[in-house]
This record gives sequence, structure tokens and C-alpha cells, in this order.
Amino acid sequence: MRHDGFMKIGILTSGGDCPGLNAVIRGIVLKGTQVYDKEFVGFRDGWRGVVEGDAMPLTRKDIQGISKQGGTILGTSRTNPFEGTDGADTVRENMERLGVDSLIAIGGEGTLAAAKRLTDAGIKIVGVPKTVDNDLSATDYTFGFDTATQIATDAMDRLRTTGDSHGRCMVAEVMGRHVGWIALHSGMAAGAHAILIPEQKTSMAQIVEWVTSARDRGRAPLVVVAEGFTLDTMDDAHSERGLDAFGRPRLGGIGDMLAPEIEALTGLETRSTTLGHIQRGGTPSAYDRVLATRYGLAAVDAVIHGRWGRMVSLQGTEITNVAFEDALGKLNTVPQSRYDEAAILFG
Ligand code: F6P
Repeated sequence: MRHDGFMKIGILTSGGDCPGLNAVIRGIVLKGTQVYDKEFVGFRDGWRGVVEGDAMPLTRKDIQGISKQGGTILGTSRTNPFEGTDGADTVRENMERLGVDSLIAIGGEGTLAAAKRLTDAGIKIVGVPKTVDNDLSATDYTFGFDTATQIATDAMDRLRTTGDSHGRCMVAEVMGRHVGWIALHSGMAAGAHAILIPEQKTSMAQIVEWVTSARDRGRAPLVVVAEGFTLDTMDDAHSERGLDAFGRPRLGGIGDMLAPEIEALTGLETRSTTLGHIQRGGTPSAYDRVLATRYGLAAVDAVIHGRWGRMVSLQGTEITNVAFEDALGKLNTVPQSRYDEAAILFG
């Protein structure tokens, strides 16, 4: 039975990709077609597909078996729908032409900020939070974070065996532009001797103390550093790769910067490994598939109930939804208590 209208629902995935995006798409289309008898189109490459009217049909057949696949079958980009276009007017015209009356936007802060502006202009949008860094407030967790943390933990387990063999200090750099959740969790899981996160400026002297303390106990020290970490002598995060499409510095390289300093100050041979995009690639964990699927199911419910301008969100074990404005502008940072808890294990 059709619950309302014959218009289609558009889906887009936008911003950096994240394991679990396909499971969200599958959850939306499965419930939307089977329970609500709706039709779907997928916009290619995030907002680019919306502003250029580049879309593909999304039937039940198109989403078969995709929840275990990494990446996104729709493609993604960091296109800003308000740059170089008439913004809401362009989006509205393309939606009308394609018979789409509402959108489900799966993305992080940039995507949801654009979604809020479009919603304010009268376009019907429901959001699904996506960030591998787990930096969005108003949701307890986002899919992709668990997978990235597991990948980072596996990598550190490997770094530890080679570090032990050579008696070296190993530095592992993980993602985390503004927040250190991946570093905190993977570092704790792998038994790191120091975890360096953006929320906690730290001195080189303190890092050296942790490294030498581990070395003096006969351990090969493991230092985990989030890409957005700054020493107490630095004003900004280390960046030597230019700017991204939003004009933000592209991070990466802090591990390579710290390793020779650690070696010089401790006399301990030190190697650095940057995990980079490996953390965002490949098969999502079971946890991320389940969370992403539940987000997808809840997002299509929100569309059917006209919850425009709201984002689905995990609160404890329940999926609920929150207004875009409550989800934006405030980062989900690592609280002092969580850092202090982990710091007991350092050195
Ligand atoms: O926002 C998620 C993230 O993975 C950050 O941790 C990282 O700084 C950035 O994306 C990398 O972006 P890109 O894939 O555009 O290089």
C-alpha cells in the first residue's frame, strides 16, 4: 500500500567516504521499497550529482548484498552545493526534473551544514551522520569509526612485533583532524605507551619521558598520534599538503615529524608509519554494518513522517533524531576524563 504520493526519494553520500555507507543505502531502499512502496534515485558523487542532476535509479536489485562492501556505490565528493551555483534554486530545479521530492543526505559536518541551508530554503532533507573520526556531537557514535579503530589496532599490533624485534620506538599516525577518538581507542586497545590527540597539547619532554620509561622497562615503545595533534610549541596542526576543497589544511605527517625528534632526544632508533586512507577502506565491521543499517531504516521513517531538517542519531542503544542545528557547530571531543583514564597506561 502506498503511504503517500508517487514522488521519489533521492539519496546522496557526501564528504570523505566511510565503511558502512552502502549499508545505510541498503537499509533506506529496503525499508522504503518493501514497507512504504517508495521509489529511489541515487545522486552520484554527493552534492555534485544534485547540482548537476546526475542521478541513477536505486531499486531493490541495485542494493543487493552491498552492506558488506566498503566505499559507496554512489560515489562521493566534497562539492559544496552553494559554490558556483544558484544553490537551493539549482537543487530544486534538478529535483523537480527528476521527480524527486525529498533527499536523504549522508555526510559529516560540511554536508549537514549545506543540508541545513537547503532545508531553510524549503527543500525537504533528512540527514544521516557520517564521520570516521567520530567528531559529530548529537550522536553517540557514527558508523566507520569502529572499522577504522579496528584497522588501526591491527596495524599497531603488527608495528609492535617488528618494534619488539628491533628494539625500536614505533610511531603510528592515525586519522583525527579535530578529535582523537581513533587514536584513543586504537592506542588503548593496542597497549600504546603514549597517545597524542588534538584535544591535549603535549610537550616533547613529556613524550620523551613516556618513551624512555617504556624503553627502560625493556619494552619497544609504541606512540600513537592523531593527525591533528599539536605539540605545546605549535600553533596549528602539521600540514604540508596544501588545502582541501573546503579550504581546510590537508593534514598528515606529524608522525614523520615527531619520529626523528624522539630518536634524537632518546637515542632510541625510531620509525614512523602513517596509516592514512587504509583506515577508511575495505569491509565495514559487524558493528558498523548494524549501526549503518539502523540509520538507514530510521532515515526512511523520518522521511515518511516529514522530519525535515533533522538527522538520525544514536543515543545509547536507541536511534532517534535531532535538529540539524543541534548537530552542527559542536565537536564531539575526547573529554578530559577519558584522556586521564587512558593516561594511567602511558609510559
Ligand atoms: O574527515 C575524515 C577524514 O578522514 C579526516 O580524518 C582526514 O583529515 C580527512 O578526512 C582526509 O580527507 P581526504 O580523504 O579528502 O584526504
